Amino acid sequence: MDTSATDPEALRTVRSLLGDEGYAQAFAPIEEASGLPNAAYWSKDWLALEQGRVFRRSWVFAGAEAEIPEPGDMKPIDIGGAPVVVVRGQDGRVRGLHNVCRHRGTKLVSEACRKSSFTCPYHAWNYGLDGKLRTRPHFSGPDKLDRFDDGGGEKLDLLAVRVETWNGCIFVNVSGDAEPLEDWLAPLLRRTQVYDFSAIRWAGKIDFEVKANWKLVYENYMEGYHVFAVHPRLLKFAPMNVRWSGEWDDHVFYNDYNFPEMEEGRGDGLPHYPDLSPADEKRGLWFLCFPHFAAEVFPDQFSLLVSYPVAPDLTREELHIFLIGDAATSEVYREQRQAVMKMWDDLNREDLGMLELLQQGRLSPAYDGGRLSPHWEGPTHQFGRRIVEKIISV
Ligand code: FES
Ligand SMILES: [Fe+2]
Repeated sequence: MDTSATDPEALRTVRSLLGDEGYAQAFAPIEEASGLPNAAYWSKDWLALEQGRVFRRSWVFAGAEAEIPEPGDMKPIDIGGAPVVVVRGQDGRVRGLHNVCRHRGTKLVSEACRKSSFTCPYHAWNYGLDGKLRTRPHFSGPDKLDRFDDGGGEKLDLLAVRVETWNGCIFVNVSGDAEPLEDWLAPLLRRTQVYDFSAIRWAGKIDFEVKANWKLVYENYMEGYHVFAVHPRLLKFAPMNVRWSGEWDDHVFYNDYNFPEMEEGRGDGLPHYPDLSPADEKRGLWFLCFPHFAAEVFPDQFSLLVSYPVAPDLTREELHIFLIGDAATSEVYREQRQAVMKMWDDLNREDLGMLELLQQGRLSPAYDGGRLSPHWEGPTHQFGRRIVEKIISV
């Protein structure tokens, strides 16, 4: 690897946590490689590196715009371990703010809600939806009210977090210096030019709690190797012989297949993207925009599997479904919409059992990364390498 742009301190920490052998494994050719060592799945110090140096320095999906449709709607979300809130302002704009009071640091918003302003639960400092400090009761003495409506006074506004949106998806970059969002999405967009994503509308989401490390979610997501053993319905829809390993294009993993027949939940019964060719009507593509934006494209949908690490052995997952035009909300399509939700819910639950077993296996001193299939798991191995590379990069 190119070591010219390496942060020496991060590299030292990585080597001490993974061991020299484990570190070398991340860069070994797939024929000889194993996965990352167990420390990467159990160590709090390792997770802190991932949160601080991967999640905070990347684009991270924070939710669908449709989750905060009206002014005052807000959704708190921890990104890279940092409390953030995305909020729709009176002007209709989506903003990202650090979800922490400028006084003593109380977390301001604990659940999704609609409010006309932010009032800190501790000493009731009040901030506008744009984050501007408005009033501060009793701060300067009993029964005094400091007012900041005219923009004067101390600049103790809530601090902004960089936010961009793309076709109803909200992305946040805590460090503020990630590449432009369009560049980050470019490898996905290059491969999906026949899909008119301006047609997608949010149909809903499903939340999961997984007792496993967040990386296992994506290692599992990338490899089609387990499909024959874990997913009977999916196997019927897309058998092993239409599958390949997929590959990375820069920081975006992609994979695809042509399926023999549409099924309810994938292509059958709901409107499709406009003007797809007959071949594209029977095609599925899936992506992972590093680190965690996993998007699946079928003729009738754009579906996301997004994971947020909570602890080394605990992950929060959001599964978001976008459908085409009216299909997302119209009563006419209610049943078919539920069929799509059920298909993903069932499929994901089949994986969850495996993820939890994988996590438990990582407690074993007899296992430290195993042996990966060169046919199927090259991209999985490269995922681990990308994490190490991102952590040690300047
Ligand atoms: S900590 Fe928020 S007002 Fe005191
Ligand atoms: Fe799976």
